[in-house]
Amino acid sequence: MGFTYSEKVMDHFANPRNVGEIENADGIGEVGNSKCGDIMKIYLKIDDNTITDVKFKTFGCGAAIATSSMATELIKGKSIDNALNLTNKAVMEALDGLPPVKVHCSVLAEEAIKSALSDYYKKQGVDPEPIVGKIEDSDKH
Ligand code: FES
Repeated sequence: MGFTYSEKVMDHFANPRNVGEIENADGIGEVGNSKCGDIMKIYLKIDDNTITDVKFKTFGCGAAIATSSMATELIKGKSIDNALNLTNKAVMEALDGLPPVKVHCSVLAEEAIKSALSDYYKKQGVDPEPIVGKIEDSDKH
């Protein structure tokens, strides 16, 4: 192989956190990676605007599993706004980086979380688009 993974990536790949499903999840997101076809599914439990539990299943490469695992750790116990603002870059930084050819793998987790939050809003009867837009705008001040 022409690249190596950081110790943190190897740790999260070998011992992924928060793997599984949540019954009666408040939001479920499933996304496919347009570059390789790998799939990630994420389940959220939300109480009072806080992500109280999160589980994931990833049918993908080691980098996808490690980034999914780290992303769930980064949003667990955090507010919805916090989770919406999580970027694949932040996940990669938390893992001490990814080899350039594996950067696309980290996009899965960010997109799956956003998709699960969008599902949550839909279940609440709220149109998710304006809310996502509002949060992004309010972030730019
Ligand atoms: Fe598909 Fe990494 S190669 S997510």
